[in-house]
Amino acid sequence: MFVSLLGTLGCLTLPDELRPEESDQLLCVPGGQPPLWKFMDSIGSEGLQQGEEALSCPEEGLPRPSDSSELVQDCLQQFKVTVAQLQQIQASLLGSMEQALRGQASPVPAVRMLPTYVGSTPHGTEQGDFVVLELGATGASLRVLWVTLTGIEGHRVEPRSQEFVIPQDVMLGAGQQLFDFAARCLSEFLDAQPVSKQGLQLGFSFSFPCHQTGLDRSTLISWTKGFRCSGVEGQDVVQLLRDAIQRQGAYNINVVAVVNDTVGTMMGCELGARPCEVGLVVDTGTNVCYMEEARDVAVLDEDRGRVCVSVEWGSFSDDRALGPVLTAFDHTLDHESLNPGAQRFEKMIGGLYLGELVRLVLAHLTRRGVLFRGCPSPALLSQGSVLLEHVAEMEDPSAGAARVHAILQDLGLSPEASDVELVQRVCAAVCTRAAQLCAAALAAVLSRLQHSREQQTLQVAVATGGRVCERHPRFCSILQGTVMLLAPECDVSFIPSADGGGRGVAMVTAVAARLAAHRRLLEETLAPFRLNHDQLAAVQAQMREAMAKGLRGEASSLRMLPTYVRATPDGSERGDFLALDLGGTNFRVLLVRVTTCVQITSQIYSIPESVAQGSGQQLFDHIVDCIVDFQQKQGLSGQSLPLGFTFSFPCKQLGLDQGILLNWTKGFNASDCEGQDVVSLLREAITRRQAVELNVVAIVNDTVGTMMSCGYEDPRCEIGLIVGTGTNACYMEELRNVAGVPGDSGHMCINMEWGAFGDDGSLDTLSTCFDASVDQASINPGKQRFEKMISGMYLGEIVRHILLHLTSLGVLFRGQQTQRLQTRDIFKTKFLSEIESDSLALRQVRAILEDLGLPLTSDDTLMVLEVCQAVSQRAAQLCGAGVAAVAEKIRENRGLEELAVSVGVDGTLYKLHPHFSSLVAATVRELAPHCAVTFLQSEDGSGKGAALVTAVACRLAQSTRV
Ligand code: G6P
Ligand code: BGC
Ligand code: BGC
Repeated sequence: MFVSLLGTLGCLTLPDELRPEESDQLLCVPGGQPPLWKFMDSIGSEGLQQGEEALSCPEEGLPRPSDSSELVQDCLQQFKVTVAQLQQIQASLLGSMEQALRGQASPVPAVRMLPTYVGSTPHGTEQGDFVVLELGATGASLRVLWVTLTGIEGHRVEPRSQEFVIPQDVMLGAGQQLFDFAARCLSEFLDAQPVSKQGLQLGFSFSFPCHQTGLDRSTLISWTKGFRCSGVEGQDVVQLLRDAIQRQGAYNINVVAVVNDTVGTMMGCELGARPCEVGLVVDTGTNVCYMEEARDVAVLDEDRGRVCVSVEWGSFSDDRALGPVLTAFDHTLDHESLNPGAQRFEKMIGGLYLGELVRLVLAHLTRRGVLFRGCPSPALLSQGSVLLEHVAEMEDPSAGAARVHAILQDLGLSPEASDVELVQRVCAAVCTRAAQLCAAALAAVLSRLQHSREQQTLQVAVATGGRVCERHPRFCSILQGTVMLLAPECDVSFIPSADGGGRGVAMVTAVAARLAAHRRLLEETLAPFRLNHDQLAAVQAQMREAMAKGLRGEASSLRMLPTYVRATPDGSERGDFLALDLGGTNFRVLLVRVTTCVQITSQIYSIPESVAQGSGQQLFDHIVDCIVDFQQKQGLSGQSLPLGFTFSFPCKQLGLDQGILLNWTKGFNASDCEGQDVVSLLREAITRRQAVELNVVAIVNDTVGTMMSCGYEDPRCEIGLIVGTGTNACYMEELRNVAGVPGDSGHMCINMEWGAFGDDGSLDTLSTCFDASVDQASINPGKQRFEKMISGMYLGEIVRHILLHLTSLGVLFRGQQTQRLQTRDIFKTKFLSEIESDSLALRQVRAILEDLGLPLTSDDTLMVLEVCQAVSQRAAQLCGAGVAAVAEKIRENRGLEELAVSVGVDGTLYKLHPHFSSLVAATVRELAPHCAVTFLQSEDGSGKGAALVTAVACRLAQSTRV
């Protein structure tokens, strides 16, 4: 295509207006331009004599032909731009683009580089009927379109559209007036269409610089192009349109997406050999967008994929680059514009200004007697009277002198043949410069693309739109010729946009509608996980009730098991103790030396699943093997140290060293253990292993061990909390409240076994289908319901089930179910902690998920993150409601207004998840405002606690013996 263009120019030589050396020479004089003052006196309002006097024709003293041609030469010379100047502009614009991409704030970049939330060019699968409202692309008019996307490649349905002229007072009036006008036009258009009034999806093409924070959220930065409505800058224009449509009340229209006209132009590009990755608009204003590497857009913490960036080059104003090419006419035009000092680059290219530039030059030459015998007309002296259409026609070689004559006559002028020829030269000078400047800017964008794609030769298609491109006879050819000169290593094809981007806006709307539908489905799916205050308070109350019943020995999902631990350590404990810690992620054997402080030596041993789910004998023999191995390594063989056994499963304790296993949890299922005294099982295993002496003194639950371990440092620590593989809590209860244990004074530590809370169905209102799937797939269906909504063994599975559900709805992974995602336990709970960590950019989230072989889009990553957040938040809040119930119980037990209590906490989920602990604390503050609850993370695990319980037991036994 490019080659053919050169053919038409009939030479491989450069267009005459670009013969560098000649023009450079011409412009070596500093600034190169004939001194501005030479023109100022005759350009623009201050140069204008007022009223009649201005319109008078000079009787005598018209310039001699030689002077006038020098005058004309001087004038047109100003619009000549050298290759060096164009390259300077190209380089400077590229510099500003990269500065803005890096997010560098000072010096303020000359262009804005605004991300548009359009992350991919059309797939061609988009389908549906969409309403498109275009505001701002074509100046004083807005357009409404009805676009049908068939989703079938090459099958196009012609959009239906209607244009509405926007009254000047609306363009300069109150913002509400403008949006009400737009809403009225929408209704008027839709009234004429055979469409239902309900559920219409609208794409809003809003062609002004905006900060987008989403596909349907966009804040206007500043008006351009003859618009200056009040009360809109700094506002979300989608909301303003929604409000206006609401006020209009005729149609139920959902504004799904807002896009810049350049994006619509790019997205509307017919699918061809090359994807259109640049959208260029030159209409009343000018701008370009292109697909940038997301990793290079600092404001987006993304590293993969591309994002469409609206460059907003209209505001490009680097004095070093633009200064030399700005003419006095440009300064006058800017000075008299609605936004002086702004959009300087646009004012040299945009269709709203080309006519005005031509008018200023014609007025100047007329005043100098060079044109129209020095007789200006009122129209020639009135701003905005020469339109783009005039310039385009007058330049159109096919229009011919007669047409130019007619146009000038319409402007009240009496042109002579020489005038017609000179007017055409003026039009050509102004528009040629515009096309060259536009090309220099486009070449900067192409260089940027080439650079970010690391390609030697960039092959790219540029979609072009806007009436300057469509109607000006030479604009595009000069543009393409100059781009080839400035970016020779880029092979560019230019694709005129078929309908000004309406289809492109519909494409983006289709994508946005799909994403919005996905978001709705995601919200519907996650809504049951978003617990409100009342629901959490209800859980707290239900737990209190279950606690009371359990303490009274009545049927309750909370067994409230007495632990025979009556006191927290008082610091007088001494001695060496062995401790076992079974039931968490790791099985540990510890040597705990208690002097004035506590020293711990421990070793982690694994419990293979085959052992955890084998026979009880096998399990306890394995435990004793580990103890013996540890003793040998620690040189303790043959010593019979008192041993404390942290056994993190529900046990009905009959004494400190007697615990009947009620049922296994957390994936353990060793046979012949439930209903047995696990201390006996351990002792039998010790016996089976001759020559081993062990004195099992105490069996404690890991919650108790954790409370004791933290209680050693902080005597106010009267609650133990585990949120790890499983979850549970214990606390110091008034003995008088514990049925079945004699004594009315003093305290008893109660192991609540809150993991089983809700096994009586009391949590069914909160339980979701995903919880049910996890429960059914577990080895203990119907059991440990509270645990299965909170703890580490299950959260990953809940997330996996939600992801499967969302994939089946087509919301995630383009609906592709992957084998990996159907694999049980493939989504580890630790992934939640990693994915939700604030320090992890989305890119790292993507990496985790890609390791799972999931085909991700950036939207998928965000959605997976939200699923993880919803699941972990619910878990933390439920846990917080439990702790609030316990703290309130203690406060009421003691009849206190305010209670200060500490909670000893352990467990991988609580410790490693970035937000879990703070969410628990926040929920406790909300539900137990009269309790000042301090959470102490246990450093040494509950093994130390078990040793301390053993030490207390030994001390008490000692004191009773003496
Ligand atoms: C620590 C304690 C164990 C407890 C575990 C729970 O390791 O020492 O007694 O069972 O935490 O957390 P986890 O995440 O390992 O299940
Ligand atoms: C606006 C751009 C728009 C361009 C073309 C400029 O004035 O700032 O957002 O894309 O005109 O319509
Ligand atoms: C057990 C509890 C234990 C908790 C934390 C639960 O599954 O039933 O006894 O405290 O996990 O490890």
